[in-house]
Amino acid sequence: MNTLTIENLSYSYTGSDRKALDNINVSFHGGKVYAVTGPSGSGKTTLLSILAGLDVPTEGEVSINGTKLSTLDLDQYRREQVSMIFQAFHLFPMLNVIENVSFPMELNGIEREEARTRSKVFLNSVGITDDKHRRFPSNLSGGEQQRVAIARTMASGARVILADEPTGNLDKENGQNIVDILKVLAHENGYCVIIVTHDPQIAAQADQVWKMDDGKMIPA
Ligand SMILES: Nc1ncnc2c1ncn2[C@@H]1O[C@H](COP(=O)(O)OP(=O)(O)OP(=O)(O)O)[C@@H](O)[C@H]1O
Ligand SMILES: [Mg+2]
Repeated sequence: MNTLTIENLSYSYTGSDRKALDNINVSFHGGKVYAVTGPSGSGKTTLLSILAGLDVPTEGEVSINGTKLSTLDLDQYRREQVSMIFQAFHLFPMLNVIENVSFPMELNGIEREEARTRSKVFLNSVGITDDKHRRFPSNLSGGEQQRVAIARTMASGARVILADEPTGNLDKENGQNIVDILKVLAHENGYCVIIVTHDPQIAAQADQVWKMDDGKMIPA
């Protein structure tokens, strides 16, 4: 389960005749960490955007557990099945730590107190202790903010995590902490984790590495 399958996927941005993604065929499975590497402009973020249901293919299909995304309500898919982690964290600056993590649960209809109780468990599991739960994101370090973003992903219930350079703004130690958390989610909890990274030391820890080159995907 938690399998994403990409068949004959091509994508061109509106107004461009160049293929940002060029006939990609690949599957990503739950329980594994995948790294996607490749030069700037090769199509990595474009690929994640399509897997996240933020954009639709020009040609081809993406399926989750055998169901084509083109047959799904993409808003619901994004709320329930996939979660994206960005280099710049994308926490809500006006919400405190607990509220940032509770928010997706409340969107999914979980009552506020229950959402907060669960948020505390997720936050503690990524090493964000109680004393930091009422702080605002601007009062946390970069590594802490990224861990809150991961706790929020866990809270969303999504079992596919798409991470675009999640360690790009972090020092080596904090970057490794994030990778360690993502590895546990994949290997012990069955999440499908896809990490876009320029860092060869992070790519080396993935179960499988793909390289993007001018819109094509090549096993590395
Ligand atoms: N909104 C857009 N409109 C038109 N072209 C775009 C748009 N976004 C990206 N592109 C182009 O699509 C190609 C792939 O871009 P993408 O952002 O996927 O690259 P990337 O591999 O993520 O690069 P980086 O490592 O710099 O983040 C690039 O040639 C880029 O210029
Ligand atoms: Mg990118």
